Amino acid sequence: MSLKSCGFDPLGGSNPQEVKTMYDELKKLIKDAVKSQQDDCGCSFDIPEVELEHPKDARFGDLSTNIAMKIGKQQGKNPFTIAENLVGKMDSGQARMTQLGIKKVEAVKPGFINFYLSKDFFLSVIGDIAKQKEEYGKTDSGKNQTIVLDYSHPNIAKPIGVHHLITTLLGESIKRIYQFTGYKTITDNFLGDWGTQFGKTIYAYKNWGDRQEIETDPINELLKLYVRFHEEAEKDPDLEERAREEFRKLEEGDKENTELWNWMRDESLEELAEVYKRLDVSFDYYNGEAFYNDKTGEVISILDKKGILETGKEGAKIVDLEQDDLRTALIQKGDGATLYLTRDLAAIKYRTENFKPVKILYVVENAQGLHLAQAFKIAEKAGFQNGAELVHVKFGSMRFPEGKMSTRKGKVVFLWDVLEKAKDKAGKIIEEKNPELADKEKVAEMVGIGAVKYAILSHNRLTDIAFTWDKMLSLDGNSAPYIMYTYARAKSILRKSETKNTKFRIQKLETEEEDILRRLYQFSEVVEKAGAEYQPNNIATFIYELAQDFNTFYNKLPVLKADGDAKGFRLALVAAAAQVIKNGMQLLGIDMPEKM
Ligand code: ARG
Repeated sequence: MSLKSCGFDPLGGSNPQEVKTMYDELKKLIKDAVKSQQDDCGCSFDIPEVELEHPKDARFGDLSTNIAMKIGKQQGKNPFTIAENLVGKMDSGQARMTQLGIKKVEAVKPGFINFYLSKDFFLSVIGDIAKQKEEYGKTDSGKNQTIVLDYSHPNIAKPIGVHHLITTLLGESIKRIYQFTGYKTITDNFLGDWGTQFGKTIYAYKNWGDRQEIETDPINELLKLYVRFHEEAEKDPDLEERAREEFRKLEEGDKENTELWNWMRDESLEELAEVYKRLDVSFDYYNGEAFYNDKTGEVISILDKKGILETGKEGAKIVDLEQDDLRTALIQKGDGATLYLTRDLAAIKYRTENFKPVKILYVVENAQGLHLAQAFKIAEKAGFQNGAELVHVKFGSMRFPEGKMSTRKGKVVFLWDVLEKAKDKAGKIIEEKNPELADKEKVAEMVGIGAVKYAILSHNRLTDIAFTWDKMLSLDGNSAPYIMYTYARAKSILRKSETKNTKFRIQKLETEEEDILRRLYQFSEVVEKAGAEYQPNNIATFIYELAQDFNTFYNKLPVLKADGDAKGFRLALVAAAAQVIKNGMQLLGIDMPEKM
């Protein structure tokens, strides 16, 4: 449907750029009304910033401003009188209002001004979605700006925790959100591939290892060696020193140890690649800690030149951050060895110099808060930031029903188990509900993986949570299967409809229809906010509410059996809702089955 066919100015369209323009125009209109009010009373004051909000309850309009309240407070006058007066002025600008897609403006006590969007505006939303499809909702807010994302970053050949699954999914979703809002993103996987633990693994391999065993099940076998090392070291404390020696040799570039390390890293990465493939996650770079080995020397000498480096106990190099409430940071041990922190500093310098980002996002668990805060503070003092904002995107602890297994087995295995279990359980539900379904295996994979992803991403990352399979896979709660069912239902309606006719005319919108439309045009705002706050759960909530509205609509109003124009319109509405649900889920990294 074209905007012009309903005599509507495209300025008021729902295309995200146009919606923004519309808000700006509306704000200008409000400001003009305030100015004219000032002229009337001959009073001059600084006009407060005009803000627009979406009232929670549709009875209070689609957009609302509290400008009259602000002026009232500032001038000691009755805000409602001011609001009424402003509405009077805007009413006389009717044509402009209509052009913006506003059908009514109203002053309400104690002093709000509420705007109601027109049917034409809402109809243009449907037209835009039909035209833009998977592009609908995209903005170019981040044009010409680069964001670096540091997420997933597992430790190779070492026991790892559930937090890696969380950072992987959160990071991937935030990346997609930033791309959708026009940023260039660079994803950099800061693997934990260096440190004294490799001395232990190398020692263990040389003494008890078997190459073939490792090749069949790399991470598990390397982990077993690591665990064995600790068992043996309890009996023979001497082993710790041997491991340090092996690591020192590795650091000095010893041929055998370097080869071993390379091999272990490659094996681990290969296994990791399978997990990433299954999760549909990808990275531009895998510059792990080891990548920065030859870059820490420069960092240390800069810190020294800037006069922030001090010598602590046993010749260690430290930065005193007591003044900043960040304790003391260890940069280099007495024996010359560098640390995780030193490599993180080198990474900040490298990334800001090479990628020139406006921001670097560290999607890292809460527990590393002090470490990152120290890194950021030292980077600031040393001038490594180069204009980039460094952000710790924190998350709390999340536990999976299978969580207990994580200490015995390697994380990759653990993660794989969770995904397998999710798929199994999803498969059983499908078998129960729809045994005739084609591609059951594929759908089970989508539903299972989707359920795990959705459970994590729909949850506010800052609060702790323990997940249960029941909730994750529920068909009627806030879960991926519920949303997938809704989507599949919409797609099935569209398949059954034979009309290709997309033209329709309708006189009046039903409440249930309007509720859907009222959400659809806000999609890009929700995405922008999710990006600004690094909170994909805003998008999940939006999709869930849209799915609920869709189901209410579907249960109340006929679609395929509706007559003439209503049918055409409702089909278009179904298509639009389905598209936006899909676009939103895509931002969470979740693929949607067309049938379920
Ligand atoms: N490898 C670390 C871990 O698993 C996380 C790395 C986080 N990123 C960073 N730049 N420090 O705990």
